[in-house]
Amino acid sequence: MARAPLAAPFFAREPMSYRSTMVDEHAENRGAAPDATAIAAAHAIYTPFMLSFYDRLVHGLSNRFAWRCPTERIIGLYRDNLSSRHLEAGVGTGFFIDRANPVGFEELTLLDINRHCLARSAQRLARYHPLLCETNLLAPIASELPPADSIGITYVLHCLPGRMAEKLMAIDYLRPVRNKGSVLFGATILGRGIEPNAAARSLLRLYNAKGVFNNLDDDLAGLSEGLKARFGRVEIETIGCVALFRAR
Ligand SMILES: C[S@@+](CC[C@H](N)C(=O)[O-])C[C@H]1O[C@@H](n2cnc3c(N)ncnc32)[C@H](O)[C@@H]1O
Repeated sequence: MARAPLAAPFFAREPMSYRSTMVDEHAENRGAAPDATAIAAAHAIYTPFMLSFYDRLVHGLSNRFAWRCPTERIIGLYRDNLSSRHLEAGVGTGFFIDRANPVGFEELTLLDINRHCLARSAQRLARYHPLLCETNLLAPIASELPPADSIGITYVLHCLPGRMAEKLMAIDYLRPVRNKGSVLFGATILGRGIEPNAAARSLLRLYNAKGVFNNLDDDLAGLSEGLKARFGRVEIETIGCVALFRAR
């Protein structure tokens, strides 16, 4: 695959410790469907300032006290499932790959709609020389991306707007970059059929009101059915409010 970026790198004034930056030139137009405003609201919060304390807020506090899913369990999911040709969809700060700390990758692709997330995770994971792709997961993605043997999609589905069937279109759009036999894994916070404590209820209300989360109708049955319709083998475990899944 050609290593030249699809468009001019947009981080040109930042230290380019990573290999290259791909911009999906059609991302904006594609973002017009299904609901561009809701898609934008779901990631607008990830400014450089917010990302500077994201890990402590989400993986330090919320996972423990609100969602009641130990962050170590999700790190374990990464340790068990990362392959040497990995694509991370909705990378945030790059927390899980960093903490799983594999020896190396033949190919690591970081994909996100938000360039601040890409910049921060690229810096953090510079030791792996990641390929970056700025794109919307709710639209067809650049076919030039290298195929992956593992795809991580953690804490992304609960952000995406729409019902579970629409959110899972993201997995369909990732199909062209999945190698045969590849594994897709991740975690998502459910909004229905769970037993949220007071902290979780408050956060669910606040984040859904702001459009950062869109998960009040997300339940285990919808996730499970959607994954089973797409994969032969599906494993899901719920811990607190979080569904951890692996499918191949
Ligand atoms: C809650 S953060 C999770 C980050 C990381 N996976 C973690 O668990 O720490 C959600 C991530 O998904 C990205 N995201 C949200 N909507 C997206 C979309 N439509 N397409 C691609 N990425 C999206 C955000 O920019 C952000 O990086």
